[in-house]
Amino acid sequence: MITFDAVHKRFANGTTAVDDLTLEMPEGGITVLVGSSGCGKTTTLRMINRMVDPTSGTIRVAGQDILEADAAELRRGIGYVIQQSGLFPHRTVLDNIATVPLLLGWGRKKARARASELLETVGLTADAGRRYPHQLPAASSSASVSRGRWRRIRPYC
Ligand SMILES: Nc1ncnc2c1ncn2[C@@H]1O[C@H](COP(=O)(O)OP(=O)(O)OP(=O)(O)O)[C@@H](O)[C@H]1O
Ligand SMILES: [Mg+2]
Repeated sequence: MITFDAVHKRFANGTTAVDDLTLEMPEGGITVLVGSSGCGKTTTLRMINRMVDPTSGTIRVAGQDILEADAAELRRGIGYVIQQSGLFPHRTVLDNIATVPLLLGWGRKKARARASELLETVGLTADAGRRYPHQLPAASSSASVSRGRWRRIRPYC
């Protein structure tokens, strides 16, 4: 469970991005933030992993105040969709997926095995895992592979 209690974020330039947000995101459920551009969705997410610190209020992950957690450990415990410019260009798709498990000290073999499992779960082949990000065709220019299939690989990296 992730909870926000009267969270407020005001940036140094005076912009209030999040104003008094109180919210519960229940464990095991899917919570979706919907709102107009600039309403504060990204800022809200970035506060959960401490990329942005709230000006006031309290955020808890599994009961722990995130300001009392070690920031690196907190981030490693949170799944994050990395795509396009966020991918490591010198690593294959498989190794991009294995990045956080490696940081957690899993060891290369176990991390790659889990990354392969995840590729398979979303219907992608080992061939996709061996490619580098620049070798992934643009979703609209894929010749031999369906567009939907390539669109899937990008978010899951
Ligand atoms: N680093 C920053 N410094 C100053 N203002 C910022 C900063 N980051 C975001 N903002 C401002 O805070 C407000 C909320 O931005 P945010 O990016 O959280 O909105 P959003 O809901 O994710 O928008 P979008 O739907 O366009 O992605 C906006 O007015 C934005 O310009
Ligand atoms: Mg946004």
